[in-house]
This record gives sequence, C-alpha cells and structure tokens, in this order.
Amino acid sequence: MAVRHLMSPLDFSVEETEKLLDLANDIEANREKYSHVCDGKRIATLFYEPSTRTRLSFEAAMMNLGGKVLGFHSEDSSSAAKGESVADTIRIVSCYADIAAMRHPKEGAPLVASLKSSIPVINAGDGGHQHPTQTLTDMLTIRSLKGRLGNLRIGLCGDLKFGRTVHSLIASLSRYEGISFVLISPEELRIPSYVRNSLSAQGIPFTEVVKLDEETMSGLDVLYMTRVQKERFFNEADYIRMKDFYILDRDKLALAPEDMSVLHPLPRVNEISVEVDDDPRACYFRQAQYGVYARMALILTLMGIEV
Ligand code: NCD
Repeated sequence: MAVRHLMSPLDFSVEETEKLLDLANDIEANREKYSHVCDGKRIATLFYEPSTRTRLSFEAAMMNLGGKVLGFHSEDSSSAAKGESVADTIRIVSCYADIAAMRHPKEGAPLVASLKSSIPVINAGDGGHQHPTQTLTDMLTIRSLKGRLGNLRIGLCGDLKFGRTVHSLIASLSRYEGISFVLISPEELRIPSYVRNSLSAQGIPFTEVVKLDEETMSGLDVLYMTRVQKERFFNEADYIRMKDFYILDRDKLALAPEDMSVLHPLPRVNEISVEVDDDPRACYFRQAQYGVYARMALILTLMGIEV
C-alpha cells in the first residue's frame, strides 16, 4: 500500500475529514479502548522551529496510544546544523520510526521530506504556509462546540499574512456549505492574494476589515484570534508597530454575540487579555486539549490502524 502523508488539510476529502473527527470524538469518550493500539510503534518529531503544543501533543498522542517517541526539538540539536538536508534526514528517520511529524521554517520542506520517506510524514507547520494538524484541531473544536462545520460565520483576526493556521483553516472550511469569513487585519497583514483569489473563485462570501469592533463581531459564530508572527518579519520596527494592534479584552468582548466562541491556536502574546480567560466564550484551552485527540486520530488514520 502507498504511504500516505499529510501536507495540506485538503489531502483528506471532506468525508475522510469527518471520519477522522468522528474517530477523535470516540477517542475522547473511550480513552482506555485506544491505550495499547500503537504498542511497539514510534513517532519521530522532527522540529526545526520552536513548538510547545504541536510537538508535545504529538508525543502525548503517541504515548496515549501505547507507542513511543523520539526526535529533536531544534535545528541546532540535529545534523541540520552540520548541513544535512531534510531529504537525507527523513531517509534515516524512516529506519528508526513508523511515522514522523516535521515542522520547518521553510515552506515546502516537509513535502520534500515526504518524497523521500518510506513512512508517513505529517506537516507540523511549514513557514508561513500551512498547518494542517492545527486545522484538524480547530475543526474538531468548532464541530464539538457548534455541532456543525457548515452554516457558520467565522471571523479571523490578527496576522492573516504570515499565520499559517489561518491559511489552512480557510482552505478546509471553504469546502462546507454556508460558510462566510470576516477577515480582520491591519492593512500590512492582509490575507495573501492566493487565499483571497481562491475564495473569490469559489464564490465564498468574505469581507476584509481593519477594526475589531461591535459591527465586525455581530453575527460571528467563531472569532479566531492569532498572534502577530514575529519570527516571519524582516524588520523589528514593523513587528513592534503591529504587535498590539488587536487586544481582545473584557470591554471588547462585551460587544460580541453571547454565543460567539473565541478560539486561538496559541501561543497568545497580548492579543487576548488574560481577563477574558474565564469568560464562557473563551475556548482556546479546550481547543488545545482537542489537539491531542485530533493527533491521535491522525496517527491511527495514516498508519492504517483500525480499532
Ligand atoms: C501556531 C503555529 O505554530 O503556527 N502554533 C501552534 O502550532 N499551535 C500558531 C502560532 O505560532 O502563532
């Protein structure tokens, strides 16, 4: 059987995505049933860029399934520092592990690795491009909170230019009926034109606005906040100018719909004030928990393990 990788959220059809989310919900409800299904299996986490949630949730996911973990957490601590290519690294890792998750600052690096890999490779974030496993997490969270993935009005706020989670989430939700987007960003951090053009070509309703105010938030089912991606700026002064452009605090949230869920892939910097954390609409910590179930379901799906 051909090895299956995950590079983009669109690598899974809508039906496959729904099946994976169903599996994640079953895992959430029946943890014990899955606790030994990966006994003897290993995941390699190959992280060339910092991470807390993505790497640790992949590792927790494999451990929850009974498997083991190996890997590195920075470029400096791997042979990349000596000049080894991702293509060579994955050939070697294929001898040591059954599946790999790779994060890399360069767009397309996990794809290059997958072409040389004899084990499934998961894109755990490639530069400012895609982050499909965060999308599975986000979809699982939204479906669990709202009971559906169609007929939703989704606001995405912050760094829409470099925020890879936003690009992947828009691509994935665009496949559902009745979706509309409100894209909230400073002029300099607008959504890339390839994403905008794709929305237009598909006839998906969207608006682009700068202000996060009552009018912008009215009618939103979900407000997806994002951090300004400091590491992708060429110039520190621009980052400093942009970094506190949006701050969702208690006063601002008081203007939002009662049933609007606030999501954030995390880490947050200043864009959501901690005073919002206790509001029932703040769902970002639950979202991080869903990330473990989504990744458990993904590992089982790519490894072809049926329970
Ligand atoms: C995101 C990422 O790495 O793109 N983090 C994550 O994986 N949860 C978002 C971010 O870093 O801002």
